[in-house]
Amino acid sequence: MWLDRLNIRNVRNLAEVSLKLSPKFNIISGANGSGKTSLLESIYLLSCGKSFRTHRFSNIATQNENWMGVYAKLSGNNVRSIPIGLEYRDRKNIIKVNGERLKKASELAAFLPVVVIHQESQRVFTQSPKYRRAFLDWGVFHVEQCFLSTWKHFNRSLKQRNALLSRRGQLSSIDHWNIELSENANLIDAHRRHYLDKFILLFNHFVNKLLVIDGEISVDYRRGWSEKEDYLNLLQTSLEKDRVMGYTQRGPHRADISFKINGVPLHEYVSRGQQKLLVCALYIAQAALYSQIAGRGSIFLIDDLTAELDAKHVETLLSVLDELDTQVFVTTPDLTLLDRADLLESRTFHVERGVISEVL
Ligand SMILES: Nc1ncnc2c1ncn2[C@@H]1O[C@H](COP(=O)(O)OP(=O)(O)OP(=O)(O)O)[C@@H](O)[C@H]1O
Ligand SMILES: [Mg+2]
Repeated sequence: MWLDRLNIRNVRNLAEVSLKLSPKFNIISGANGSGKTSLLESIYLLSCGKSFRTHRFSNIATQNENWMGVYAKLSGNNVRSIPIGLEYRDRKNIIKVNGERLKKASELAAFLPVVVIHQESQRVFTQSPKYRRAFLDWGVFHVEQCFLSTWKHFNRSLKQRNALLSRRGQLSSIDHWNIELSENANLIDAHRRHYLDKFILLFNHFVNKLLVIDGEISVDYRRGWSEKEDYLNLLQTSLEKDRVMGYTQRGPHRADISFKINGVPLHEYVSRGQQKLLVCALYIAQAALYSQIAGRGSIFLIDDLTAELDAKHVETLLSVLDELDTQVFVTTPDLTLLDRADLLESRTFHVERGVISEVL
């Protein structure tokens, strides 16, 4: 499905926006501070009930306004369109799909999977494992139906076990939590492996389309505890050490993926522009795998697509995005940096101080 109509009220400097969108390619241009990222942020808010810039909803609503809203009509081939909306008032979110209120913002993600590449996205290579786990789990969550409940069970058991460890008292129920943890840890590990096997093939495919690097990229998954060790056995034998630390030291909550080129961590080897293209390959592969498995597209957002890229790589990236079975939104400060000639179904918008109009 795709976003057909989009209305925004009071999101940052976007007071009132009403757009008819392309199901394929949408380009947003405008000067610094005009409202381009705010438009992507509004789409992201509607797709997963949170922002990629802040945890505070009150900072997103236009200053001196006490509410904000993002509304859209979702359309698809041979299906009835679905109205969807998110409002924030009196410090509360109200999310409605098809006129029915959703209990949790996280339920939105199942309707409208969204992939975003923004200023901070390179942290997936450069910063802590939590960003790589989040990347991996987005993919697994959207293609493996039961992953969310397994992951929730694991986290609940982990909290219980950690609470027992930190209390330094009675450990009589620890065996129960060890068993719960180990069952779910093994499932999480299996889901992640299964996903990565398919993902790595596509990642390599898009890397080769987007750039040339002199070397082999290796992608290694580490599950968070030794490959040789049974997790239940590990939990039992590491009890004393875990007790000293006050928490469960190993498990799928410590999993990581290492990306290397010729044995060197990828981000220490490639240039800034190459790193950006590799981030694009990573997320494009994820969106492509989602459409392959789920049989429907996601929404793909790239903020400041042209930053750090030369004209040739911008052109290649555009053509790769154009082939994706996905609705795409890209922003750029300068339209002349994009050659739109080959895009079949695109709409272009210009933002000026929070006012958005279509470029015809
Ligand atoms: N809560 C808010 N209320 C009103 N205006 C805000 C709020 N938060 C941010 N702004 C302003 O909204 C404007 C648009 O910001 P945005 O980040 O969308 O710009 P942009 O077009 O992406 O710029 P750039 O090209 O520099 O990335 C900025 O001038 C910013 O200061
Ligand atoms: Mg911006």
